[in-house]
Amino acid sequence: MDERFRESELASKVDVTALHAAPEREPVALWLIVLIMVLMFFGGIFLWANSGGFQSNIYNTNKISWSGAGTGGPAAPPDPMVVGKRVFTQSCAVCHQTNGEGVAGQFPPLVGSEWVLSQDWHGDNHIVKIVLNGLQGVVTVKNVPYNNAMAPWGAVLKDDQIAAVLTYVRNEWGNKAPPIPVEFVSKIREANKARSEPWTQKELQAINREFVGPAAAPDSAAPAAPTAPTAPGA
Ligand code: HEC
Repeated sequence: MDERFRESELASKVDVTALHAAPEREPVALWLIVLIMVLMFFGGIFLWANSGGFQSNIYNTNKISWSGAGTGGPAAPPDPMVVGKRVFTQSCAVCHQTNGEGVAGQFPPLVGSEWVLSQDWHGDNHIVKIVLNGLQGVVTVKNVPYNNAMAPWGAVLKDDQIAAVLTYVRNEWGNKAPPIPVEFVSKIREANKARSEPWTQKELQAINREFVGPAAAPDSAAPAAPTAPTAPGA
């Protein structure tokens, strides 16, 4: 028997099963547990500080409640001047301009316009009609005639957006007139739903003021807001 043989005999005596057995498991290191807990703690603080109270309207600009955003409290009702300005910038400013002055010979001004401010036969309802269905043909604004066409917005803008934008144009650039309530827009839309073509000045002038509450009859620079509209003939 030489050395070599004895070596291999020794090798055959090694316990192969024990050699391949899984090593005994170490318990999870304490420092790792502490690290995870610390990370969870600061993660919680970060989430609490940046979640916006888990309200979906905080980051979603389509949900209009800007004035309530970030307070964590219940969302305040949207400010028509804020919403209105936004609608105006998106839908009206391209023609009537951001300063409401319009473009001479093409787009009539909204600043100081008797249509916007509602006087005489220009009842508040007429501007709602103009926005809902559009306007075409000759129209006189501040003694200046225009002969152009404005497309209808009734299919694009919702009642609350129309109320907001009209409230905005009636109270911006020095204009001052009562707000247009959403329900008022809805009534006018309902009453004219069969109509598809734009209005003309002649037609609008022929219509007596509709939906004017009994107390709001007298004309003044600042007529009462049409908050209690009544159906025609009611
Ligand atoms: C594409 C251009 C255009 C856009 C956009 C437009 N308008 Fe007009 N608007 C006109 C024109 C043109 C007239 C006059 C129509 C005519 O000559 O018969 C007019 C007339 C008016 C009038 C009556 C006249 C006056 O100056 O007071 C009002 C009120 C009005 N628009 C409000 C709005 C509002 C509110 C919006 C946005 C929702 C809007 N317009 C968007 C072109 C536009």
